[in-house]
Amino acid sequence: MIDPQEIRLLIADDDEEFRSSLVRRFQRRGYEVEQVGDGASALHLLNQREFDVLILDLVMPSMSGLEALKQIKEERHDCEVIVLTGQGTIQTAVQAMKLGAFDFLTKPFPLAELEVVVNRAYEHRQLRKENFQLKQILRRAAPQVRMIGQSPLMKEVFRLIEKAGPTDKAILIQGESGTGKELVAQALHRASLRRDRPLVVVNCAALPETLLESELFGHEKGAFTGAVSAKPGLFEVADGGTLFIDEIGELPGALQAKLLRALEDGSIRRIGSLKERRVNIRLLAATNRNLAKEVEEGRFREDLYYRINVMSLVLPPLRERKEDIPLLVDHFLGPPWQIEPAAMEAIMQYSWPGNVRQLINAIDRAKILADDHVIRLRDLPPEVVGHRPAASPTSPSAPTAAAGSLQLAEVQKNHVLQVLQREGWNKARAARALGISRRSLYRLLEKYDIRPPAASGQNGS
Ligand SMILES: Nc1ncnc2c1ncn2[C@@H]1O[C@H](COP(=O)(O)OP(=O)(O)OP(=O)(O)O)[C@@H](O)[C@H]1O
Ligand SMILES: [Mg+2]
Repeated sequence: MIDPQEIRLLIADDDEEFRSSLVRRFQRRGYEVEQVGDGASALHLLNQREFDVLILDLVMPSMSGLEALKQIKEERHDCEVIVLTGQGTIQTAVQAMKLGAFDFLTKPFPLAELEVVVNRAYEHRQLRKENFQLKQILRRAAPQVRMIGQSPLMKEVFRLIEKAGPTDKAILIQGESGTGKELVAQALHRASLRRDRPLVVVNCAALPETLLESELFGHEKGAFTGAVSAKPGLFEVADGGTLFIDEIGELPGALQAKLLRALEDGSIRRIGSLKERRVNIRLLAATNRNLAKEVEEGRFREDLYYRINVMSLVLPPLRERKEDIPLLVDHFLGPPWQIEPAAMEAIMQYSWPGNVRQLINAIDRAKILADDHVIRLRDLPPEVVGHRPAASPTSPSAPTAAAGSLQLAEVQKNHVLQVLQREGWNKARAARALGISRRSLYRLLEKYDIRPPAASGQNGS
């Protein structure tokens, strides 16, 4: 089960003859072995390179094995230490165990026995590392936010989560930016039988292709420049649990093929490795693109689309469930905050292209500006106030009273344009003001064919 080639071993013993016999044996078996003759050199090497297991003789010149062990633990080197003691020094062995050694052997001992202990130490270290990774991931996923909503559309979403959660089927979560896709993924995981196993999230939009590949599938040491140690992929980390692939529409073509293979075979190979590893995951994916259209236009593999879309859950945009807005506002305001009716009305009128996320941003901003814990019209972002049909335009380019009668798409387009103009066509700032990601903003620009004015006209009038 254990592949000796993955194990990096350091042997510290002053008895040269004995040491060489150890080195020869382990090298023959395929282990990666380094050797030193005293404790100080062992420490020096540990500072420079990563080792899985250290075999440490307790009686050595220059620095005693115990002293070295103490320092190794103090400096938090995370290799496992196996100590070798002479006959009749059981006291020292006990001391070494107290200092955090993994195990001890009394000389002389059969080499086969040492090999068994080395393998166990390696396994122990791997488990410890995986545990640590899991804890990191769980901590990241920890805040469990309650989903708010009473509208028929959201009630249907909750019903689907209850029904589909426990089925173990792959589910594609679709919806505009900020509609709560990640929250739904968490809720589906919680409603599943895997709820006590990890929910591992990977965001395809957040990483460049090569990094994304090694995040998902892991890599062996030396698989590419910078791969200084072997690393399990998120598929392995999610084993037994749920893997949530966010923004799957952004997955590059080559990785689409690799993902499909992994899902079909139920096994993966780390980059630079020939070893197949079986993984058992439940797949959830989310996108704010229209994947069916992406398939039609040849940007997303059809076979992968059917794999990930065994069931689909579509989140309605906020403007189609306005009855949820007061609930959300109330929830995010919290006591003792109040809101003026005129401000609430403006919020109700607005189209919220960035959905719940944008609403949260607007409320957070208003709370900073507000006096006496009351949100007034003037505390709301200008784009929200500006879209009240009755309000006078806040920006010279805003369409006068007509906003109310425009088609929704038109409203959204104008709104995006307005914010862009206000932010001097700085897309990062505009996206922030809209409460959407920069990527989503680019998508809106594409959708509505919005372009910055020609360079010469930019400062005109
Ligand atoms: N129904 C809801 N109740 C409470 N909070 C919500 C609800 N929907 C969304 N949120 C909150 O809105 C924010 C955006 O939600 P989330 O990140 O899940 O959206 P998303 O659809 O994944 O967006 P994107 O496509 O931009 O990644 C989060 O802070 C989330 O907690
Ligand atoms: Mg998201």
